[in-house]
Amino acid sequence: MCGIVGYVGPRQSQGILLSGLSRLEYRGYDSAGIAVIDGDGDLGMRKRAGKLAILRDDLADHPLADGTTGIGHTRWATHGGPTDANAHPHLADDDKLAVIHNGIVENYAALKAELVGEGYEFRSETDTEVAAVLLGREYRANGGDLVAAFRTTVNKLEGAFTLLALHTDHPGLVVGARRNSPLVIGLGEGENFLGSDVAAFVEHTRKALAIGQDEIVAIRPDSVEVTDFSGAPVEVEPFDVTWDASAAEKGGWSSFMAKEVSEEPDAVANTLRGRIRDGAVSIPELDGLDDLFRDISRVVVIAAGTAAYAGMVGKYAIEAWARVPVDVELAHEFHYRDPVIGPDTLVMSISQSGETMDTLMAVKFARERGARTLSICNTQGATIPRESDAIVYTHAGPEVAVASTKAFVAQITAQYLLALHIAAIRGTLSATEIAQHVLELEAVPERIQHILDTEQARIEQLAHWMADTRSVLFLGRHVGYPIALEGALKLKEISYIHAEGFAAGELKHGPIALIEPGQPVFVIVPSPRESALLHSKVVSNIREIHARGARVIAIAEEGDASVLPISDEVLRIPLSGPMSQALLAVVPLHIFAMGLATAKGLDVDQPRNLAKSVTVE
Ligand code: F6R
Repeated sequence: MCGIVGYVGPRQSQGILLSGLSRLEYRGYDSAGIAVIDGDGDLGMRKRAGKLAILRDDLADHPLADGTTGIGHTRWATHGGPTDANAHPHLADDDKLAVIHNGIVENYAALKAELVGEGYEFRSETDTEVAAVLLGREYRANGGDLVAAFRTTVNKLEGAFTLLALHTDHPGLVVGARRNSPLVIGLGEGENFLGSDVAAFVEHTRKALAIGQDEIVAIRPDSVEVTDFSGAPVEVEPFDVTWDASAAEKGGWSSFMAKEVSEEPDAVANTLRGRIRDGAVSIPELDGLDDLFRDISRVVVIAAGTAAYAGMVGKYAIEAWARVPVDVELAHEFHYRDPVIGPDTLVMSISQSGETMDTLMAVKFARERGARTLSICNTQGATIPRESDAIVYTHAGPEVAVASTKAFVAQITAQYLLALHIAAIRGTLSATEIAQHVLELEAVPERIQHILDTEQARIEQLAHWMADTRSVLFLGRHVGYPIALEGALKLKEISYIHAEGFAAGELKHGPIALIEPGQPVFVIVPSPRESALLHSKVVSNIREIHARGARVIAIAEEGDASVLPISDEVLRIPLSGPMSQALLAVVPLHIFAMGLATAKGLDVDQPRNLAKSVTVE
């Protein structure tokens, strides 16, 4: 939550800050602001409630003086509503100092009381302004050393924060610090960048440095210095950003979500790429970890939202193929109870952003309890993989729309690969069986593409007709159950319609009471060829709701005629194995949610009240 960008170099910074913010807007879009040290050494600052476009228009009408050192912020409100006053930057030290912040300063009330007691005044309700005023006080106390004052300040803060600051006494310097919140450095030629993630600067440089926990960075046009919170220098390893700038552009698409759904075949293909050799799975990042996978007695998957549903799908494969018991837990629930875990537990986190605070805290907690940790993550340099013993990256490319789509299919793909990898190590599948599953996975991208080519227009039409619908239910069994949950989450998230997913077997234990004439129900129908028993059970469930007047929309494999007499609509997916069906059945649901939100005239990329990276607990 909240996007942060900083720049020092020879170029005018305003355009660079605004384009960086536009790539980070998915992190929060309640308000935005920038601060720039201009050519005369004065501080120019503009901040506006509302989306970035409002700030951009304001700056176009009333430009700030140009300057080559600047910081910018896009906000998801925590302390204080989304107003101009609460937007960042916050100023201090007679408006010579500007600070932006992502996270929550937990001890802000005590610090504010102390500062108010000393006569300092505040102009906003935010915790960030407390950090700014504190930094101003420390700066005056130490005679004008910005980096030293910054160090004293961050050592007084509790909670999670990324902070950036600049001061008119120091043109050409931006300082930053992070604790439990993301910050990466972009290394340019005679210029340097800071960003919440690499998207902030990928159009300018693909050389980056990830800053570790409790570290401070000072960027100048020709230097980058990283120290820990005590001031000791820290060595940081550069990495090359694999995303290119165009990957984070909307291109000709109507929305990022439309683009990202169209990229679902690539997300699967790229996650498989380089990890299959001669019909076997080979994950280079996991070399040397065979003993870990041999020794574990269970896997606990921790994640939130869509990533947790991906984990629920992965459980079916890890248990079936690798024969290791798997529990899937919401990270925030796992963390705040007293789970039984130890050195024989592999705690596997799944996170697109790699920054979700609930998941990060649960990973740290698992490590403290002695568990081994593995991160499935889509974002290079993110915090969660850095806190884990092992990493398997999903290669979905940057996901900008708040609703996760292509990352979801990539997360499932990565788990299927991992399940086969563990199965090979533990000898629970033969090489021939693994080769069959690999073949099946390799066929998925083309099959998803087939759904996009043949069904997308029809599903969008259906969504258009259903624009006034007030409630939609989703049913599935086996991997279709978490897919039903995902279909419901996506719909409520972007179209604000009541939606619920159920295990179809639960129907008669309660949810069937919701069925009344005309109630739309999506049902994911297992393959009759692959799982005759499950198929027959789901067909019976359809009969039960059809008889009570439900409007049944079946997602069924091509050629399955059994659903025709009992369904109002049948959306077709290609023939597939039972596990890979999850990767196909979700595609119509993503298209449907997007189509319905579009039909209602809603912003599918930036749904109300949400931010993509939930970096506060
Ligand atoms: C739903 C969605 C969220 C995220 C969740 C976890 O479409 O995007 O539910 O899946 O906030 O985010 P990550 O994967 O970044 O940890």
